[in-house]
Amino acid sequence: MGAALLGAPAFAEGGGHDQLKPTRLSWSFAGFFGHYDQGQLQRGFKVFREVCANCHAAEKLAFRNLGEPGGPEFSEGQVKALAAQYKVKDGPNDAGDMFERPARPSDTWPSPFANDNAARAANGGGLPPDMSVLAKARSYKRGFPWFVLDALPGIQYQEHGADYIAALLQAYKDEPPHGVKLDAGQYWNEIMPGNRIAMPKPISDGQVDYTDGTPATLENYSKDVSAFLMWMAEPKLDQRKKTGFRVLVFMAILTGLLYATKKRVWSNVPH
Ligand code: HEC
Repeated sequence: MGAALLGAPAFAEGGGHDQLKPTRLSWSFAGFFGHYDQGQLQRGFKVFREVCANCHAAEKLAFRNLGEPGGPEFSEGQVKALAAQYKVKDGPNDAGDMFERPARPSDTWPSPFANDNAARAANGGGLPPDMSVLAKARSYKRGFPWFVLDALPGIQYQEHGADYIAALLQAYKDEPPHGVKLDAGQYWNEIMPGNRIAMPKPISDGQVDYTDGTPATLENYSKDVSAFLMWMAEPKLDQRKKTGFRVLVFMAILTGLLYATKKRVWSNVPH
């Protein structure tokens, strides 16, 4: 019980099998003064682009976002060159036809499949969710007392989604537990609720080249791409935190002033 109160147990019931809880990682963007780590976002983008984007769309991401302050901050030239490597549909032209042209920074990230049916057909029936806000759409329960603390403004914990994705990518098992049979197109994952996931293990050690000296390990890929997905879902996190902090400072000052005023007003009243 004591351990349960501290949220210590690593296991919770899930689909009849032990389901692991994601580990709470320390993110550069956590806490009051947190901000995204540009190098990490650049690496995460590389993983997204070379691996995840083969199956997952990111319809809200525009190429130019990748150059905006607080994000991966690629230069204008880099963003232009990157966009030009992709083709987008445009039109209709004067003849009424749709046509393809190289993407421009203002275009959004092209989806890997024409529509959901095509995406399912290519993924054994599973639908890869759009990644634009995925990091905010996934969460997990941390149990008492954390869920109380998590909800308080100021210390509110907003990194569940990043923890979850980072853990998910590292939680594949080659084989399901003894006696469990997977359907075709299902894989065993210790973090996925219910453990059955339609996404094959997408990434392993050494798969993506890192050029900044960061070891090319599954663990680093998982953290970096999760940070990138968090940025994509919440690019203005830094600013929101700053605003929240200013509001708290303001409230603290206001409280002090009100208290001083109250003392003053009542100081002449005999009691
Ligand atoms: C081969 C195609 C493919 C690739 C590559 C791929 N995914 Fe997926 N992904 C899927 C499919 C299909 C699903 C839907 C799984 C389901 O519903 O069981 C999915 C689901 C997910 C989910 C949601 C899981 C949940 O809680 O429902 C996350 C998070 C995710 N993928 C992250 C990633 C990341 C990060 C990468 C890149 C490192 C990646 N995926 C690469 C096909 C892919």
